[in-house]
Amino acid sequence: MILEEGKIAFEGQISGKGKGPGKIDGVFYNPAMKLCRDLHVALFNKINFKGCMLDAMSATGIRGLRIAKECNVTVDFCDKNPEAVELITENLKLNKLKADVYRKNASILLHEKLYDAVDIDPFGSPAPYILTALNGLRNGGILAITATDTGALCGTYQKACFRRYKAINRKSISSKEFALRILTGFTARQAALLDMGIEVILGYYEGHHFRVYLKIHRGANRADKSLAMVKHVSSDFQIINHSTPDSYGPMWTGNIADEKYLPEINPDNKKLYKLINILKSECKGPLGLQDLVKLSQETKINMPKRDSIIELLKSKGFFASQSIFSPLGIRTDASKSVCLEIISNA
Ligand SMILES: C[S@@+](CC[C@H](N)C(=O)[O-])C[C@H]1O[C@@H](n2cnc3c(N)ncnc32)[C@H](O)[C@@H]1O
Repeated sequence: MILEEGKIAFEGQISGKGKGPGKIDGVFYNPAMKLCRDLHVALFNKINFKGCMLDAMSATGIRGLRIAKECNVTVDFCDKNPEAVELITENLKLNKLKADVYRKNASILLHEKLYDAVDIDPFGSPAPYILTALNGLRNGGILAITATDTGALCGTYQKACFRRYKAINRKSISSKEFALRILTGFTARQAALLDMGIEVILGYYEGHHFRVYLKIHRGANRADKSLAMVKHVSSDFQIINHSTPDSYGPMWTGNIADEKYLPEINPDNKKLYKLINILKSECKGPLGLQDLVKLSQETKINMPKRDSIIELLKSKGFFASQSIFSPLGIRTDASKSVCLEIISNA
């Protein structure tokens, strides 16, 4: 079936019901990830990305095809599935594009060639591929990682989180934010093995996936600087150096996005426009969220409107914003007791 996404017409097999990965025969295409690919295109255009990107787990090739056509970037394609490789070759022809297509385990290719950007988009956890992806990057290159093992990362399956990411997450208003930070922190620790440091360009959670874009800098000093940002977090969301029985992490404690890299999004792309604008408003804020439901329960009043509490906090000089990680979370540098007082008087 001929499908369309962005400026690309391509063949593929739609998975799920536009929501999650689902189970399919044929070569996987998930329309729910259009937002993720739209953002990839917008980001690469914003940073004026030049060089060669490896679409390491291409499936139909839709991501790499869009980057090649909509960002005018050279893309290498790779998939270990021969059916996918055949389809990518067809899809390149269909769009009058030329590229190298590898039928390989991406981990092998990443030990043979160096890239300016590597995109890792596996089924489930990216943890096994991060070290080899780092290996295949030039200094200053960009590593893009998708993770769909949300149950493990968010701490629903704590053993799996620890097994894959050597970190602990727990159920809380901040578990999605901490999941992204655990993924980023794990990558910083893997990079340090290779004397590389990370610079966060942009990270987010949406629907059923986490995604992080990192710039990689070679050098022991850069590695040490990044490692210094990977810490534990106490149950009241203070950054601490060691784990305790109820702490979270280790996780990345720096910014989750850098405002200067955030692209402008066309307001017609409503979901992505909202996501990037909220991310813009919260990315300079502190780590962890205040839970509006719990605060209201403690004050024994009906839950006030989130946005009115945000405005009240701002009017008192505090940082306050909504969050992409939870509609009922408030990112603020005001203490819990200040939030309780503001809610009581709202
Ligand atoms: C989630 S799909 C990729 C989706 C694609 N990036 C997109 O945007 O539509 C995962 C793909 O990775 C491929 N794959 C999984 N492990 C791989 C590996 N180690 N090396 C190369 N390809 C791999 C699978 O065959 C599958 O086609």
